[in-house]
Parts: sequence; C-alpha cells; structure tokens
Amino acid sequence: MLNEPKTILLTGGTEGIGLALFKQLHRLGHSLIVVARNQERLLSLQSTYTRVSTHRCDLSSRVELESLCNKISLNHPDLSIIINNAGIQYTPTFLDDDFLFDSIEHETRVNFLAPAWLSCLLLPTLIENKKTTAIINISSGLIFAPKTNSAIYCATKAAIHSFSQSLRYQLEQTNIQVIEAIMPLVDTAMTAGRGAGKISPESAAQQIINGINQKSAEIYVGKTRFLPALMRILPSLVKRIMRHY
Ligand SMILES: NC(=O)c1ccc[n+]([C@@H]2O[C@H](COP(=O)([O-])OP(=O)(O)OC[C@H]3O[C@@H](n4cnc5c(N)ncnc54)[C@H](OP(=O)(O)O)[C@@H]3O)[C@@H](O)[C@H]2O)c1
Repeated sequence: MLNEPKTILLTGGTEGIGLALFKQLHRLGHSLIVVARNQERLLSLQSTYTRVSTHRCDLSSRVELESLCNKISLNHPDLSIIINNAGIQYTPTFLDDDFLFDSIEHETRVNFLAPAWLSCLLLPTLIENKKTTAIINISSGLIFAPKTNSAIYCATKAAIHSFSQSLRYQLEQTNIQVIEAIMPLVDTAMTAGRGAGKISPESAAQQIINGINQKSAEIYVGKTRFLPALMRILPSLVKRIMRHY
C-alpha cells in the first residue's frame, strides 16, 4: 500500500507518534495532510517540508471537523489513507479532586467520535479514489485489559477496537482496508513522567509502517504482540499487570 506515493491524512501529526509517522511517511515520498490544534507546530511543518498541507482543527468540535472534511474532499480527491492518530489521556480517577466532569465528553470526542466522524464523512472520497485505500486507527494494549485510572481513555480505545472490527466487515467488499495499530507504552508527551520500558515514537512509527506493508489488519506494536495469547492462557495475570499501567 505504501509502495507508491499516496496522499495521507494524519491527525495529531505534530507530536509524539504522529510526528514520527509524519517524518517516516514523508521520507517515503508520500504527501501529508496534517491536522492538529497548535498553529505554531503546524506552521513549522508547513515551512520545513514540501508535500504537506496543514489544517488547524480541534477534532473535539463536530463543526470544525465537518468543515475540515468538506475542505479535504474538495481539495484532496486523491486522498488514499486516513490515520486516526490524535488522542488525549486524562489520568485522574473519578474520586480525585482534579477530576473534571467535562473531561468525560472531551476525551470521548477526541479519541472515539472524531475517528468515527472522519471515517464516515471521508468514506465517499476514499471510495471514489478507486485505488486501494485505508483507514488506520491507533488503539492501545489497554483494549485487552484496562488500567485503574484513565477509565474513559481505556473505554474509548476499547471502542476504537470494536469499531475497527465492525467497519472492516462493513467495508470488505470495497477498496477500503480498515487497519488497527495496537500500541504499547511509547515515550511521548502523553506518557511523560510515568511508565517504564517505553519504546521510542520512531520505533512505534516504523512498526506501524511495517505492519501496513505486510497487509496486517491488526498491527501489534512492541510487547502488545504477546497480549492475545496471554489473555487466553493467563487472563488474571494480564489484568493484574495492566490495572497498574
Ligand atoms: N504514548 C503512548 O504510550 C500510547 C500508548 C497507546 C496508544 N497511544 C495512542 O497513540 C496516539 C498518539 O499518542 P501520542 O502519545 O503520540 O500523543 P501526543 O504526543 O500527546 O500527541 C497527540 C497529538 O494529538 C493532537 N491532538 C490532541 N488533541 C487534539 C484535538 N482536540 N484536535 C486535534 N488534534 C489533537 C496533538 O496536537 P495539538 O495538541 O496541537 O492538538 C498532538 O499532535 C493516541 O491515539 C494515543 O491514544 C499512545
């Protein structure tokens, strides 16, 4: 799929795993449409690289997202791949003083609704493209067993996993592949100051790209490849480990 130049929509391509994906995909000759909120970071990509168009959009806003999709379908009919990478994680538990009621909706909008909205609104553009196209969703090893804090985050990633499977069934007679990349702990702003044994964003991005090239429907990055078997053999051990992640 990545062996010839493609136009790729990448959400959250300004930082962390998204930025590493951006750099590696760009090096492979692809054109990228990058979406995020921070205008400075977007402008920096725009001024440093060719074959890049950047769009400032808060993906938690349905109005902004709809306007973004209108622009993309109009200006990028060659869109081939959507990578739903942008994500946020709030760590307070429901009992903590700093838990914000509004965070429940915000986290759900960014992590789950935005990928579903983007997939739905850009589906006609991908189908019109006629070539092999793909929707790639970034999930987490936490889909197998959630951790104690970040309850909404874990639920949104489990929802992305379920959504990716159903959408794959729905689109199996079309030119669109639905791919899910299941991530381990990666050393980014999201995990700053916590967690051990993190892999680099560059290694995470490389493994995602390898998985796409190998036509995997589910790409298990790093240690997550052990999780399906471990969940069958030792589910209580996995749950015990994951609850403290
Ligand atoms: N890091 C890990 O250990 C890990 C593990 C499992 C899964 N993942 C998943 O991997 C993906 C990338 O994570 P990361 O660690 O690379 O995160 P990150 O370093 O915090 O970067 C997040 C990116 O998403 C963008 N973003 C956040 N909120 C947005 C919004 N409302 N609208 C538009 N863009 C928004 C950010 O740009 P702006 O702030 O400019 O908007 C930034 O580019 C996420 O889906 C995450 O859940 C990460």
